[in-house]
Amino acid sequence: MTVPVHAADEVKTVPMTPELYRYLVAQAEPPTPVQRQLTEQTRALGEMAVMQIPHEQSALLTLLTKMAGATRVVEVGTFTGYSTLAFALGLPPHGTVTTLDLSAEWTDIARRAWEAAGVADRVQLRLGPAEEALRALPEEPVIDIAFLDANKDGYATYWDLLVPRLRPGGLLLADNVLYAGEAADPRCTGNAADIRRFNAKVRADARMESVLLPVADGLTLARKRDAGEGVPRNA
Ligand SMILES: C[S@@+](CC[C@H](N)C(=O)[O-])C[C@H]1O[C@@H](n2cnc3c(N)ncnc32)[C@H](O)[C@@H]1O
Repeated sequence: MTVPVHAADEVKTVPMTPELYRYLVAQAEPPTPVQRQLTEQTRALGEMAVMQIPHEQSALLTLLTKMAGATRVVEVGTFTGYSTLAFALGLPPHGTVTTLDLSAEWTDIARRAWEAAGVADRVQLRLGPAEEALRALPEEPVIDIAFLDANKDGYATYWDLLVPRLRPGGLLLADNVLYAGEAADPRCTGNAADIRRFNAKVRADARMESVLLPVADGLTLARKRDAGEGVPRNA
């Protein structure tokens, strides 16, 4: 079946340049002193600092958390805690962000930043393989927002474990879904191929509605449909 689409060759996204990117970043809520310091500390780690989400994405996560009225967030992939901090800053004081990672070294930096920002009491850090931690979560649909930003070969499993635990209307966000553009190539391999299969899985899941945003390395924003909410087929 041929699916009718709008003019797919008409690129509506503005090509990014360093100047335009600086302008774009300047239009987001500016980083707090703690966020600036955390970015500096993460840069000092060297090459792996690229794993930290950029500040404009952090501002988006904080906004989405507030817009969703979220009180329960689950994050897969803490690193030095920048995205955790973004969620924590969007939560009310009684809200919690449960964040999962393997590394005690990187999350020690994160803990200090959460303390300095005055939100450490909203953060529950679980060290160990994310899959085990997700399986141990209550099987109740109570999560308002989940965020995937860890090993790419785990995204499909994390999706399967998180979607049933999302409340109706809850959001599942997945980072790096363009994988530097490689995921669009049918011949891609490795992490990019894992991401490509994950993107296809997301599109095929009728429980969720989703859009892939060209934010940073690509951010999927998926919402769990309400019970009884029809899937439009011929609208
Ligand atoms: C891209 S970084 C996360 C960046 C973070 N969200 C931020 O904004 O700074 C990915 C993290 O996933 C963690 N990770 C990788 N495999 C994992 C696994 N199987 N279980 C839990 N964490 C894992 C790594 O230790 C790393 O800190």
